Amino acid sequence: MKKRSYTLITGSAGFIGYHLTCSLIKKNKHVIGIDNLNNYYSVKLKKDRIKDLKKTSKKYFIFHKVDLSNKKGIENLFKKYKITEVINLAAQAGVRYSITNPEKYLKSNIIGFHNLIDCSIKAKVKIFIYASTSSVYGKITKTPFSENLNCSNPIQLYAATKLTNELIAHAYSHLYNFLTIGLRFFTVYGPWGRPDMALFKFVDSIKKKKNINVFNYGRHYRDFTYIDDVIKAILSIKTNFRKKFKKNKNYEIYNIGNNKPIFLKNYIKEIEKNLKIKAKINYLPLQPGDIFKTQADTRKLRNHFGYVSKMNYKKGIKKFIDWHNDYYQKN
Ligand SMILES: NC(=O)c1ccc[n+]([C@@H]2O[C@H](COP(=O)([O-])OP(=O)(O)OC[C@H]3O[C@@H](n4cnc5c(N)ncnc54)[C@H](O)[C@@H]3O)[C@@H](O)[C@H]2O)c1
Repeated sequence: MKKRSYTLITGSAGFIGYHLTCSLIKKNKHVIGIDNLNNYYSVKLKKDRIKDLKKTSKKYFIFHKVDLSNKKGIENLFKKYKITEVINLAAQAGVRYSITNPEKYLKSNIIGFHNLIDCSIKAKVKIFIYASTSSVYGKITKTPFSENLNCSNPIQLYAATKLTNELIAHAYSHLYNFLTIGLRFFTVYGPWGRPDMALFKFVDSIKKKKNINVFNYGRHYRDFTYIDDVIKAILSIKTNFRKKFKKNKNYEIYNIGNNKPIFLKNYIKEIEKNLKIKAKINYLPLQPGDIFKTQADTRKLRNHFGYVSKMNYKKGIKKFIDWHNDYYQKN
């Protein structure tokens, strides 16, 4: 009997992993999700995402609690299932946390990444997609950030580990004729989002009438990218890359952004308007490792796949707040 093919999604209890898994299982694709359910932020939120995925489809979703740094655990997955596609979204995320907790980044983002790509090559998976970040643009101030820029100046360890992923992927694509695609995400937001990120923190604190810390005196610009746009981009790349490039291309990097940076103070005003509460703001200086402005050059994604992001930030903020109200009413 022919063995069933699976897509492996790492970090499926995480924000982006949850949404990607959800959209695939709704399309009746078989997904293995793995996550180590670490306590970097609310473990309950991660478990609730997994619960919701199991509720969405018991038939198409299988979850295993596995740490990427556990090589045996990863090897066992590849022995047990016929995995033909890998999407690596598990990582220790966060810019500021990497300054105080460097070992966690080395363990998950470098050792863990290498374990996964090594097993994927041995299992001859057809496509290996992995999360990188806009933080790799580091010291570059010329916007929009194009994938062609030389990114050898990261300004914190998180970015350095993601750049390392891109370099390892390049070496292995070349050595083993293995298809790898890195995605540089730009500040992703939306329902089921991350409690360590600005939108979540602001909404949470403003609702509780607590002060919010706003760095660089609110003069940041961020290319906020709505989660549904991100998922559509990943699916479009996954489905169409091989059809478009046949066997002549084995390595690619794409920016996944919105291309319309928003002034942080305006973002906060929109949150206040939705919540009908005035924020209590502590304005603070620029934090070490922070980037002043991010803006994705999204032409490559558009040229290759005709893809453009659609969500307007005002609508996106409203959708997040509706989810936040609903989730915390029930929990
Ligand atoms: N959300 C964003 O704005 C953004 C921006 C740039 C890059 N990224 C990258 O995209 C990916 C997904 O981000 P996210 O926002 O969903 O983050 P997330 O923290 O919500 O999800 C990552 C998941 O990976 C899991 N994980 C961490 N280390 C692991 C390990 N060693 N083994 C197994 N599981 C592990 C975590 O428990 C978490 O559930 C990450 O690689 C992140 O660095 C995200």
